[in-house]
Amino acid sequence: MIDITIYEVGPRDGLQNEKIPLDTNDKIKFINILSETGLLFIESGAFVSPKWVPAMADSNTVLSRINKKNNIKYPVLTPNLKGLEDAVKYNSDTACVFATPSETFSKKNTNCSVKEALARAKEVAEEAINKGLKVRGYISTVMFCPYENEIESIKVAKLSEELIKIGCYEISLGDTIGSGTPIKTKDMIKACKEAVGVEKLAVHFHDTYGQALANILASIEIGVKVIDTSVGGLGGCPYAPGAKGNVATEDVLFMLNGMGIETGVDIEEICSASKFVFEKLGRIPSSRVYNALASKKKRIN
Ligand code: HMG
Ligand code: MG
Repeated sequence: MIDITIYEVGPRDGLQNEKIPLDTNDKIKFINILSETGLLFIESGAFVSPKWVPAMADSNTVLSRINKKNNIKYPVLTPNLKGLEDAVKYNSDTACVFATPSETFSKKNTNCSVKEALARAKEVAEEAINKGLKVRGYISTVMFCPYENEIESIKVAKLSEELIKIGCYEISLGDTIGSGTPIKTKDMIKACKEAVGVEKLAVHFHDTYGQALANILASIEIGVKVIDTSVGGLGGCPYAPGAKGNVATEDVLFMLNGMGIETGVDIEEICSASKFVFEKLGRIPSSRVYNALASKKKRIN
């Protein structure tokens, strides 16, 4: 039985910020490797404007050529109806809409106001549900915004409520710049729990300041059961200056394994996926666990 679900965002959030995009064939291999790790959710692309996020411009090829497994969902980002049209065309199973309580971040990330972003999310969600797709909602800058500083938890809770009303099955709460800390995390999650129920919440921490594991533990203590992660700690947001990668999948697995929490995901297989993608990118994973396990292996062999 799975106690906590790991929602892998490496192929999307992890790769969207690469200046030289990972080769399309390597993206496809990467997702195919991830499909063998026990993961049930692998966010695999973004049908966004290629002018805004060039590294996701090949999502159509990626989504049509990966070996999809029946028990795995391969969600994609769909900021508008054009994105949804492509998601349907390339047989995506889950459309992800996104919003933020920060007017400035909304403008920078989606070129519209908070109200307009919500109206777009509503039309995308309606159409997605009509076409048989599930809809996941993202809220960015849930604790701090790179342009507007601290965000009030009540604003995040209200936005969660709106996203649930338009048909999202789950809200992923994004600490986009990774500057949240555990007490603030608890305050924000409790507000959202009151608004929509904890079973509808997922958490999405970037690890810029090394706070992600502490914040995940704080979220689990309140009852959150879905955690967004990225193999090796890949990632960043093009519209959040300084934001580093998502919390590394292997770091989260190491903590949960140590706590006896079942995820169904194999940490060794995840490390192999990290090795594959980081070798292709010509870098070393930022994951502490990846590096610790790799040097332990070298010592033993
Ligand atoms: P816009 O420029 O206002 O769009 O962008 P527009 O409707 O005026 O159209 C302009 C051009 O873009 C047109 O082409 C459209 O066809 C095209 P042209 O006539 O000039 O040749 N276009 C598209 N092309 C492909 N796919 C589309 C699409 N839409 C328009 N879907 C838009 C508005 C929302 C499209 C743009 O701002 C955008 O793509 N934003 C996405 C930004 C993004 O992907 N950010 C990163 C993901 S969010 C994130 O990382 C946070 C998260 O991880 C959680 C967290 O950590 O906080 C989720
Ligand atoms: Mg993110």
